[in-house]
Amino acid sequence: CLCLCLQIVVLLLCCKEHSADISCRNGAGEPVDWCFIIYKLPRYKIGEVASGVDYMYLDSSVGSWQTSNFQSRISREHTETALYGKGLQDQYFPQSKISLYALYNDYSLCLTLVCVTEKAWTVVCAHPAGVLLFDHSQGFWLSHSIPLLSSFPERGYLYPSSGKVNSHTALCVTYEYQQFLCIVKQMSYLYPRFYNCSVPATFLAELLLLAQLCEGTIPLLPSERRMEQLFSLRGEKFFSFVKSEQFLDDIYTGWVAPVLDADLLVETWQRLGHELPSNCSLPKHTMNIRRIQLPASALFHSHYDHSKWCVPRAYEDQLNCLGDLNRERAQMWHGAGLLSSFNPVIYKAFREVVDWYIGC
Ligand SMILES: *[C@@H]1O[C@H](CO)[C@@H](O)[C@H](O)[C@H]1NC(C)=O
Ligand SMILES: *[C@@H]1O[C@H](CO)[C@@H](O)[C@H](O)[C@H]1NC(C)=O
Repeated sequence: CLCLCLQIVVLLLCCKEHSADISCRNGAGEPVDWCFIIYKLPRYKIGEVASGVDYMYLDSSVGSWQTSNFQSRISREHTETALYGKGLQDQYFPQSKISLYALYNDYSLCLTLVCVTEKAWTVVCAHPAGVLLFDHSQGFWLSHSIPLLSSFPERGYLYPSSGKVNSHTALCVTYEYQQFLCIVKQMSYLYPRFYNCSVPATFLAELLLLAQLCEGTIPLLPSERRMEQLFSLRGEKFFSFVKSEQFLDDIYTGWVAPVLDADLLVETWQRLGHELPSNCSLPKHTMNIRRIQLPASALFHSHYDHSKWCVPRAYEDQLNCLGDLNRERAQMWHGAGLLSSFNPVIYKAFREVVDWYIGC
């Protein structure tokens, strides 16, 4: 019995240590291998008005879009749990002394301009949003497309009602500490509005830049754009594309398609009269997706989709991108970025949901 008890104690200790690692976590609060992606569905699907908080979930262990785990509990509470609930709540505190966090969103800008016109609101709200949370060993970068989603543990996690109408994506990747030194450099191009940061003194030697960004200091950039390779904790490769507002071009057509050397199908939120048409004039084409068909008869039009992603048209180019920019003229003046992955599971999950696009 003593032996068994000891074993149990050891087991408990191991588990405890493991679960304390800062990592992307699924809706059940368990660490996921390399990343998870959430595709929150819009309220207005074709032929159906839905709750606006149901979503599809993807990570490496599930392999394809999942509804089943969550459909029984399609509720506001669950959306919050997966996006900002357990994942952050368990991790934020009490570790705040040894971990660094930085939350960014366009919350105040939205609030400032929301009264002007609906147009102004939507233009401004297309800025990057997300969370960095890590310690000296590892952590995660969660980026999403949900304006007004903020996370203050003491206030609870409220999913904004403005985020229910359109669909949105959220991408979370777990990285080792060293990778965050690159990620923070990438952040300086995005120049997001950080609304809450904690950069403990032990990080300042290497991450002074983040502390400055958090204070709102405008960084001096050596170029208009920057591409960086990132590797997740498990060695999964990503390309991070970031551009400052000085780089005046559609990021998909002018940069990402030629670098990835692929004809791209691009799903972004496009308002009537503001969209950039499919571009067939360069060697690599950029084509607008118009309709999405996720499993479980989630069929919807792109104009209810606030997510921003791309996949190559050809099935042999197994990559995708997910990020902050719409194919819209006004967005050429934004600092923002895209994270491109080379994972066949993610590629397949996105390529298969393209229902209709405007081809060349
Ligand atoms: C950031 O969040 C922490 C914890 O919720 C809170 O104590 C602090 O006041 C916040 N800081 C700002 C500047 O909002
Ligand atoms: C295609 O994209 C390039 C780069 O953004 C741009 O210069 C060109 O004018 C676009 N062509 C059309 C027909 O819009």
